[in-house]
Amino acid sequence: MSQTLFDLTGKLALITGSGRGIGLTLAKGLAQAGCTIILNDIEEKRLEDAVSLLKKDGFTSHGVSFDVRDEKVIIEKIAFVEKEIGKIDILINNAGIQIRAPLEEFNSDDWRRLIDINLTGAFLVAKAVVQEMIKRKAGKIINICSIQSELARPTIAPYTASKGGIRNLTKGMATDWGKYNVQVNGIAPGYFKTEMTKALYEDPKFDAWLCSRVPANRWGDPSELIGAAVFLSSKASDYVNGHLLYVDGGLMACV
Ligand SMILES: NC(=O)c1ccc[n+]([C@@H]2O[C@H](COP(=O)([O-])OP(=O)(O)OC[C@H]3O[C@@H](n4cnc5c(N)ncnc54)[C@H](O)[C@@H]3O)[C@@H](O)[C@H]2O)c1
Repeated sequence: MSQTLFDLTGKLALITGSGRGIGLTLAKGLAQAGCTIILNDIEEKRLEDAVSLLKKDGFTSHGVSFDVRDEKVIIEKIAFVEKEIGKIDILINNAGIQIRAPLEEFNSDDWRRLIDINLTGAFLVAKAVVQEMIKRKAGKIINICSIQSELARPTIAPYTASKGGIRNLTKGMATDWGKYNVQVNGIAPGYFKTEMTKALYEDPKFDAWLCSRVPANRWGDPSELIGAAVFLSSKASDYVNGHLLYVDGGLMACV
């Protein structure tokens, strides 16, 4: 029974920003659970390498390059996928960037770029993908949020605003699309070692602070996000909608 609940055999999943890091790890995890994977990234070479990696591991995967800010291209590429590969059952809005600077010095162009990628991008891709989900009355959307959906930290106020935004966008999507049997949930990772956090885990002071702050006393490994992604992509979560699942070693539970 539990195997059937979590089985994703034959499902098609699109994961944005999956050329590396958390997105690529989730792609491998969903592939292991039975999905065919559509990888996406703005970096074409990175995307090509990621597709090769998945294929080398014996998984069926395709690469579709677009910038999550570019609505026209998103619509074209989603139409291409639906015609040539199949209807998308699962979307993970994962593409995101971080720019660190004190807020009083934060460049307004950087503010717009960050909000456009981290927040508006999720809306644009989900809007394009949900059209077919609505017609078929089935779909799963996962938005990658963050502990910064709730908590700030010095120098990352714009990122915190974008992640708070995507938390509430998740609730809004769940509210509007629940009646079409589309479930929209968020995964909120704590601190995971990827390129995005390299400057932090290479800083001994930050590393020591984090490990003392997190009840688990350590960083997360991206593979530890796979269980949450499989759950929120599968039948097991059919009555879970608008929820934010923290995967953070207990960070949000304690001051
Ligand atoms: N690493 C962490 O500790 C952590 C914690 C919480 C949330 N997150 C979130 O997880 C997601 C993935 O982060 P990561 O750590 O793997 O980062 P990463 O930088 O390793 O990977 C992000 C990927 O997104 C791609 N990307 C950037 N802009 C894009 C665009 N406009 N269109 C398409 N692709 C684009 C990048 O090229 C890159 O391959 C992000 O949304 C991030 O905010 C990460």
